[in-house]
Amino acid sequence: MSRSHYGSLVDKVREELVHRFLQSKQLPGSEEILTVLASEGKGKGEIPAAFYQFDQFPELLLSRMMVDHLNVADPFFKCHEGGAGAITQIQGRQLINFSNYNYLGLNGHPRVNQAALEAMQRYGTSASASRLVGGERPVHRQLEEALAEFYGVDDCVAMVSGHATNVNTIGHLFGPKDLIIHDHLIHNSILEGIKLSGAARRRFAHNDLVALDHMLGEIRGQFERVLVVAEGLYSMDGDVADLPGLIAIKKQHKCFLMVDEAHSLGVLGKNGGGIRDHFNMAGPEVDIWMGTLSKSLAGCGGFIAGSRSMIRLLKYSASGFVFSVGMAPPLAAASLEALRILQEEPQRVQRLHTLSNLFLKRAREKGIDTGLSQGFSIIPTLVGNSLKAVRLSNQLFERGIHVHAIAYPVVEEQAARLRFFVSSQHEESQIEAAVTTLAEVLA
Ligand SMILES: Cc1ncc(COP(=O)(O)O)c(C=O)c1O
Repeated sequence: MSRSHYGSLVDKVREELVHRFLQSKQLPGSEEILTVLASEGKGKGEIPAAFYQFDQFPELLLSRMMVDHLNVADPFFKCHEGGAGAITQIQGRQLINFSNYNYLGLNGHPRVNQAALEAMQRYGTSASASRLVGGERPVHRQLEEALAEFYGVDDCVAMVSGHATNVNTIGHLFGPKDLIIHDHLIHNSILEGIKLSGAARRRFAHNDLVALDHMLGEIRGQFERVLVVAEGLYSMDGDVADLPGLIAIKKQHKCFLMVDEAHSLGVLGKNGGGIRDHFNMAGPEVDIWMGTLSKSLAGCGGFIAGSRSMIRLLKYSASGFVFSVGMAPPLAAASLEALRILQEEPQRVQRLHTLSNLFLKRAREKGIDTGLSQGFSIIPTLVGNSLKAVRLSNQLFERGIHVHAIAYPVVEEQAARLRFFVSSQHEESQIEAAVTTLAEVLA
């Protein structure tokens, strides 16, 4: 079979994808597309091109479909010409920026920059080895101790990526005899960790603790270790988990509870102490606190905080920590300084709450569908159609507002949306202008 023939099959599949999307918004899954692509050459002893050519990977066809075939401007990989705060500059134009999670305006803060610079001058830009074998720098432990204290638990370990922290931790602590139950809206990094662990996976409807309790009542006994996973503040929807309810259930069924605080640290609670501060709970009530350094803490990386034994287990045997380089010292220093500022200046958190509430209130007044958002920094605009979401994002861009579209397959098609991240750096006038323009564009 000639290569061009395979090429035309890809074109046919592409056409079919576009057709299906326009008709019903129901796209086939990757498996189904691969089956079609792989059918070519089968039975003739030939290896289908889909098995050795990247341009025939179903994920590629799906991810580029909208931009390549539906005549919309490419909304991805926009290049910012400076640090992105409440205002950003792209292609020489100033835009009001709602597209990044610099929630407390600490990315670029002079003290944070200075801390990173000093660490860089002293230690260089890399840890240059795994901390376990190559050794660490004082700033690694200082950051971990500060985070452990912040969460009111024994200890903490910091890793080089937030996503990888979830993958490594879940993949390492749980195995094929175990069960992991997660909220329906949980982040991809948790799902990848579950795959790595080989544990059985179940999900409960978003924030439906009655369903969780029921499920555990039925199947808890069939497994050894059981982990329940939730997010403090849900990253796509901006609503808060029922932490007291989750703690009661995990105690009743003798499970572990993990809470991903990626968007909650620095955002929830009067002092930005995360969901624990929001509900005024003790740190040890949650077995595994996970957080990222890339959001309120102006850096890059993730951490796990909890009991001494759990942290020791991860530090001495989790492959993603043991066999991976330590966090770059300037990044550890930056996040440590950001954490100090957060604790010294709770007014940043209060301003973030005021601005987020203003956004939510104004959007609701204008009849905009903000879904489940509770007005804590993440405010979606649900449009229920990927194409519409991308076009809206492009129209807003033209009118001076930068906001991401979240389209299929990142969320289900009917959940396609714009997602606004509010920052304490925004001005009230910017929030008012953004909501007014959004309403006009939607109309
Ligand atoms: C809930 C949640 N967990 C984990 C991550 C991964 O964190 P990072 O982007 O710092 O790798 C994200 C990323 O946005 C997230 O939203």
